Amino acid sequence: MSQIEKVAVLGAGTMGHGIAQVCAVAGMQVALRDLNDELLSRGRAGIEGSLGKLTDKGKIAAADRDAAIARIRTTTDLADAVAGADLVVEAIPEIMALKVETFTAVAEHAPAHAILASNTSSLSVTEIGAASGAPDRVVGLHFFNPVPIMALLEIVRGLSTSDTTVEAARAFAARIGKEPIVVNDFPGFATSRLGVILGCEAIRMLESGVASAEDIDKAMELGYRHPMGPLRLTDLVGLDVRLAILEHLHRELGEQFRPPALLRQMVRAGKLGRKSGEGFYRYG
Ligand code: CAA
Repeated sequence: MSQIEKVAVLGAGTMGHGIAQVCAVAGMQVALRDLNDELLSRGRAGIEGSLGKLTDKGKIAAADRDAAIARIRTTTDLADAVAGADLVVEAIPEIMALKVETFTAVAEHAPAHAILASNTSSLSVTEIGAASGAPDRVVGLHFFNPVPIMALLEIVRGLSTSDTTVEAARAFAARIGKEPIVVNDFPGFATSRLGVILGCEAIRMLESGVASAEDIDKAMELGYRHPMGPLRLTDLVGLDVRLAILEHLHRELGEQFRPPALLRQMVRAGKLGRKSGEGFYRYG
């Protein structure tokens, strides 16, 4: 297919609005869709905040920031969002039934040439593809938080994803300034499978009193040069998000991914990390 010019992003949460932002900055027209106006305004505020930081640091000119913001429209109507899109990126909650429902609707309303991508961090791209009825055009495009800063784009090839789709995904990565890796569809791909096991072990260590959260994080920050320790990172990603990934990997890959009891308890208590104001740390 020719170059991607129009993108629909489904879900205006942390990942969705970050994806919309990088596409708009790269010059694409973006339709950002969520269920209601409040979620859409929060997404827009996130984009404006992030672009504001980048402008203040001189990484993007004020005129380019304004042009990027002008390229993003918001809508609650899925059919309207995906009509005319060359690429649809889904960034909704990690619930397979929701993904299947969404991709079925997307395949019905998006143009026949559109690439249909999921930002899932662990679920089966093959299963999503089969449900969509257009499995050759379905691919995983796994972004990392914070999307405007992180260099990686993990491209996940489902069993039926075509070479043309993978090549289009690579070209898209280059266009938005991300470095791609191509990974076969396996639970947790290359990133989440390794990333969550470290976070999971850190929570188990906290549970069994090995050290404080601060010292477990400091161990990895200063001893291994990780930009942030595994507990601080779990707070950034969201404890609920990490729990959902672990539950899936536990079912698919076995015992080493069993979610720690402490993680379950904290999610039940509403301690979801930065977004709720408290996780392993408190946020102002
Ligand atoms: N938009 C724009 N700029 C941003 C930003 C955003 N959303 N978030 C951070 N920045 C900028 C800051 O302004 C700062 O800019 P300068 O260097 O020019 O000053 C820079 O990024 C660094 O930020 P901070 O100084 O606030 O703090 P930091 O140096 O600790 O960096 C971080 C913050 C980039 C988040 C860094 O700690 C980091 O890389 N952490 C690890 C993140 C990570 O592992 N993400 C993957 C999570 S897993 C995932 O997302 C996938 C999944 O499936 C769940």
